[in-house]
Amino acid sequence: MEPTIRLAAASDLTTIHRIEVGSYPDPWPRSIFYLMRGRASDLFLVAEVDGEVVAYSIGEIEWMHGVKVGHVMNIAVVEACRRRGIAGRLLDELESRFRERNAEYSYLEVRVGNDTAQHLYRKRGYRNLGVLPRYYKNEDGIAMEKPLG
Ligand SMILES: CC(C)(COP(=O)(O)OP(=O)(O)OC[C@H]1O[C@@H](n2cnc3c(N)ncnc32)[C@H](O)[C@@H]1OP(=O)(O)O)[C@@H](O)C(=O)NCCC(=O)NCCS
Repeated sequence: MEPTIRLAAASDLTTIHRIEVGSYPDPWPRSIFYLMRGRASDLFLVAEVDGEVVAYSIGEIEWMHGVKVGHVMNIAVVEACRRRGIAGRLLDELESRFRERNAEYSYLEVRVGNDTAQHLYRKRGYRNLGVLPRYYKNEDGIAMEKPLG
C-alpha cells in the first residue's frame, strides 16, 4: 500500500501528536504542532495509508549565513509502518518544496544515538556537519546537510 502525501490539516493534529509521543523520549508539546502549522502550513506534511495518518514531517525555510536553506524540523513514522520507505517519501516531498522555494541546502539535527535516522539521512545524501553539544535535553546532536542543486 502506497502512502499518500498531503498537507496536514488541523484535524490531523491529535493523531500527529500521538505519533510524536510514541516516537520520542521528550516529545514536543501539542502546542508546537499548532504553531508550526500556522507558520509554514505548506511545509507541514502527513503520509496517509488506508485513510489513516501514519507519519508526518515539518519543514521551514530559513536564512543561514546569507544562504536560503530548508530546515527539516521533525519527521516521524508510527512504529507499525516503519521500514516501508514512508520517511523517504516525506523527505522527497519536503526537499522538492524546499527547491521550489530556491533553498540551496536541506539541513537537520539528529541525536548522536539515533542510528536509525542517521542511516536514513546518509542514504539520502546528507552528510555530517558537526556535533552540537547538548543540543537535546540529555544528548548531543549532529547537524547534517544535503545540497539541493
Ligand atoms: C527515523 C524514521 C523516521 C525512519 O522512518 P521509516 O519510514 O522507517 O524510514 P524508511 O523506511 O524511509 O527508511 C529509509 C532508509 O532509512 C534507513 N533505515 C530506516 N530504518 C532503519 C533501521 N531500523 N535500521 C537501519 N536503517 C534504517 C535504511 O537505510 C532505510 O532504507 P532501506 O529500508 O531501503 O534499507 C522512523 O524510524 C521514526 O519515526 N523514528 C522515530 C522518530 C525519529 O527518530 N525521527 C527522526 C528524528 S531526527
